[in-house]
Amino acid sequence: MTALARPDVRLHASWAAAVAEFGDTVVHGSGVWRLPDQRYADLTLDGCARFVAMLLEESDPGVPLPDDRVPCTYFWITDGDPDEVVGFLALRHRLNDWLFHEGGHIGYSVRPSRRRQGHASRALALALRQAADLGIARALVTCDDDNVPSARTIERNGGVYEDTRNGKRRYWIETAEG
Ligand SMILES: CC(C)(COP(=O)(O)OP(=O)(O)OC[C@H]1O[C@@H](n2cnc3c(N)ncnc32)[C@H](O)[C@@H]1OP(=O)(O)O)[C@@H](O)C(=O)NCCC(=O)NCCS
Repeated sequence: MTALARPDVRLHASWAAAVAEFGDTVVHGSGVWRLPDQRYADLTLDGCARFVAMLLEESDPGVPLPDDRVPCTYFWITDGDPDEVVGFLALRHRLNDWLFHEGGHIGYSVRPSRRRQGHASRALALALRQAADLGIARALVTCDDDNVPSARTIERNGGVYEDTRNGKRRYWIETAEG
């Protein structure tokens, strides 16, 4: 059952395996880009603990951020018992100029070995509920123009296409439950 878990060192081994699977590709929604070289996380237990602390701090609206950043809640997409980390999802609490035009509220990725099993679709549905809890009535979710799996993920969650800006397809999704 797909779930959203807050980052936790308890999931260290599975987190490290999931991150490693991406190799040197960008891990959307993971927060790894926040690290000094923007690509490689320290996969040791200590590295995981530092990383988790950084991610949790970023979700706290009370913590001052640079002008170009907004508070963001990170989730590890999990499945099974015991939990396996199957992907990553980031929920930005509000939009700045770049997020409005290109980045959107929500970014995500699923580890290559667990794709095409519905995890992204279910994770996005869960994230939309979290967004509603944060007071986001309409979430903006974007994807690269040629990213068919991500576009399908957004569309099956009710995404209404608005336009494409700078190669990013922009969709709005109502989050409030009827
Ligand atoms: C995009 C991504 C998150 C989708 O994850 P996933 O768990 O495989 O997605 P799902 O299993 O929920 O599938 C969602 C839809 O995409 C379709 N899909 C998935 N992979 C596909 C592929 N390679 N080609 C065509 N369609 C694909 C599925 O059939 C499904 O569509 P449907 O509802 O019409 O059947 C995953 O491919 C990924 O991590 N990609 C790299 C990172 C990325 O692009 N993130 C998005 C940034 S905006």
